[in-house]
Amino acid sequence: MSNVTVIGTQWGDEGKGKIVDWLASRADIVVRFQGGHNAGHTLVVGEQVYKLSLLPSGLVRGKIGVIGNGVVVDPKALMTEIDRVTAQGLVVTPETLWIAENAPLILPVHGALDRAREAARGEHKIGTTGRGIGPAYEDKVARRAIRICDLAEPETLDWKLDELLLHHNTLLAGLGAETFTKEQLKDFLTEITPRLLPFSCQVWDRLDEARRAGRRILFEGAQAVMLDVDHGTYPFVTSSNTVAAVAASGSGVSPSSVGFVLGIAKAYTTRVGEGPFPTELHDQTGRTLGERGHEFGTVTGRPRRCGWFDAVLIRRAVRVGGVSGIALTKLDVLDGLDEISICVGYELDGQKIETFPSAPGAQSRVKPVYETMPGWKETTAGARSWAELPAQAIKYVRRIEELIEAPVTLLSTSPERDDTILMRDPFED
Ligand code: IMP
Repeated sequence: MSNVTVIGTQWGDEGKGKIVDWLASRADIVVRFQGGHNAGHTLVVGEQVYKLSLLPSGLVRGKIGVIGNGVVVDPKALMTEIDRVTAQGLVVTPETLWIAENAPLILPVHGALDRAREAARGEHKIGTTGRGIGPAYEDKVARRAIRICDLAEPETLDWKLDELLLHHNTLLAGLGAETFTKEQLKDFLTEITPRLLPFSCQVWDRLDEARRAGRRILFEGAQAVMLDVDHGTYPFVTSSNTVAAVAASGSGVSPSSVGFVLGIAKAYTTRVGEGPFPTELHDQTGRTLGERGHEFGTVTGRPRRCGWFDAVLIRRAVRVGGVSGIALTKLDVLDGLDEISICVGYELDGQKIETFPSAPGAQSRVKPVYETMPGWKETTAGARSWAELPAQAIKYVRRIEELIEAPVTLLSTSPERDDTILMRDPFED
């Protein structure tokens, strides 16, 4: 029996929510290990619709939820989310939610700096969610972050706030944005401390105990490999590593605990925010995919850019992300198309290339080389077995497997949790 780590393989929004929810029902503990409240997904359970950004999905299934040290925690956003799901009937207590005491906090200065910098970037803006994610991670590696454990030490907090404000106010003033006073930040922290501290603990120790007791752990990645700060379309990326290796360092467990790595891929491609996207479609097909797939950002509501499946990018995500198997989602959105294209290579300045380049100029000049196959007229929506799929849809999935050099171990055919075709149970691997 293995643990399972779920990561996105494209630019996020691959439909992780449904897959993670399905897997969470089979796990004991669900762990978030990177990102923050820039992530977002909607879980439908019976009559209830839960919108989660920071809370691990397992809470919805009555499992223990863990926020690891690799996550940046906005305490206000967290409390608002806890209040919202509590009003919907969930029970969130220090017994069911463990938050790493060494996780860094997102403070009001971070959101302010994120937004001021985006405004100053003009046409080179990244299209961030504006939630302070980047500045909070910068503070972590610059060793000036306020971590949850600091809240219990007023004397530490005092000098750390001085250092933090010196840095941020200099930048905010330079950008013509409003600066912050120490009192403002102290008031913010004083208000959230009594609610936040009781959830904090040494997550690594509890996870180690759980592992020894043979409990099943699901690591829930946010964003996706193409948004990884090292392996993605830098600088149009998020500020954390999103690959499966980070499940270990982002929660304090051994690399061998990561287990089966399930990479989520949509049967086509979408992206929110700015940055290169070789297979983006600006025509009616792109609009059709967006409409049928309801492609609007969960966090920001922005319409997502849509395009064909890019097998070259996913093959790279499979390799650098350590993906053992793929969960292919939203196959039904392709139903009824006359033809479907898959990107199998690129052309850069008249030369054929087989991998995606690293420099942003080259990334934006790359032209996809397509392989086109006939579509299928039948509906795949709601299929629950391989036998229910049209032959042409099976061909499409098989061709994807060949090109990305990884098996499709799970296929999702509608937003409904049970409309899933399971080829291999990742927990049994
Ligand atoms: P940030 O994470 O807010 O700094 O945003 C950086 C980039 O990552 C932007 O292009 C965002 O749109 C994108 N991004 C961040 N989180 C998500 C997500 O959960 N899904 C899709 N894109 C995301």
